[in-house]
Amino acid sequence: MNAIQLDKNGRLKHFLGIEGLKRELLLEILDNAAFFAGLGEQIIKKIPLLNGKTIINLFFEPSTRTRTTFELAAKRLSADILNFNISASSTSKGETLIDMLHNLEAMHCDMFVVRHDQAGAAHFIAQHVSPHISIVNAGDGRHEHPTQAMLDMFTIRKHKGDFTQLRVAIVGDILHSRVARSEIHALNTLGVAEVRVVGPKTLIPKNIQPLGVKVFHNLREGLKDVDVIIMLRLQKERMQSALLPSEHEYFQYYGLTEEDVDVAHPDAIVMHPGPINRGVEIASSVADGGRSVILQQVSNGIAVRMAIMAMTLGAMNKEFRF
Ligand code: CP
Repeated sequence: MNAIQLDKNGRLKHFLGIEGLKRELLLEILDNAAFFAGLGEQIIKKIPLLNGKTIINLFFEPSTRTRTTFELAAKRLSADILNFNISASSTSKGETLIDMLHNLEAMHCDMFVVRHDQAGAAHFIAQHVSPHISIVNAGDGRHEHPTQAMLDMFTIRKHKGDFTQLRVAIVGDILHSRVARSEIHALNTLGVAEVRVVGPKTLIPKNIQPLGVKVFHNLREGLKDVDVIIMLRLQKERMQSALLPSEHEYFQYYGLTEEDVDVAHPDAIVMHPGPINRGVEIASSVADGGRSVILQQVSNGIAVRMAIMAMTLGAMNKEFRF
């Protein structure tokens, strides 16, 4: 994986997944994101860092947060970005994915941001495009969603500082979640004290323990004394219809209520990558409550994606920052 993501100098060329990346690199992304977030706080909305670069959002699956924050991030770095409309493209006339990519490459673009329902799609594309093009994975099947994991790490660091003392619980449909996979890799690489996954047996992969997690099937046992609660929705689009749980029953056992949050550390924060399903995995009073940092996650996505775009396009260096 590293061989694909890093250039010969060990710098990010593509951003395809968290697995295999070193702690120093994750911290560098977080530091660069903090720099961009700081500019935003000074109301410096736009800088010319990626002036002349062209980025194409290639989203084969729906998105509210990821696509929009990539677009805003690119615009704040002065890149040209376009949202390619897959459903209106000539793929419906038999054009293959590779032919489509080569035609888009011929328009002199520098980066594709790719979301796809197939695990490995971003890696596949990275191996088939011209060497000057960078690929950023915006979610591939149930495999990884690395920029979501990094914006979540940014949010956790902002609230908690040091990672090493933290207990983090990821709750819900772990089996179908690309966010959970990326977060488990990121949290362990950043050295958190304990990563827990909490959910029904049917929604936790059987072979997950080697990833460095503790498994809980009882919600309150899993939440006891944790510093961070990350809720996940039921990813029905990746489930066989016969296996869909009853939402009402699911909420009874795994829906996060204020009483459940009370068993966590008194300063625990509640996170969710979105979209949230109120009354299924989380009560509205928690999603909108004082512990929730869900909308902060969305805001932080802009600075984190600015950092990842700038780094993969080779525009980020210490001279620029200081
Ligand atoms: N968190 C996330 O990936 O949201 P979207 O599907 O709306 O992009």
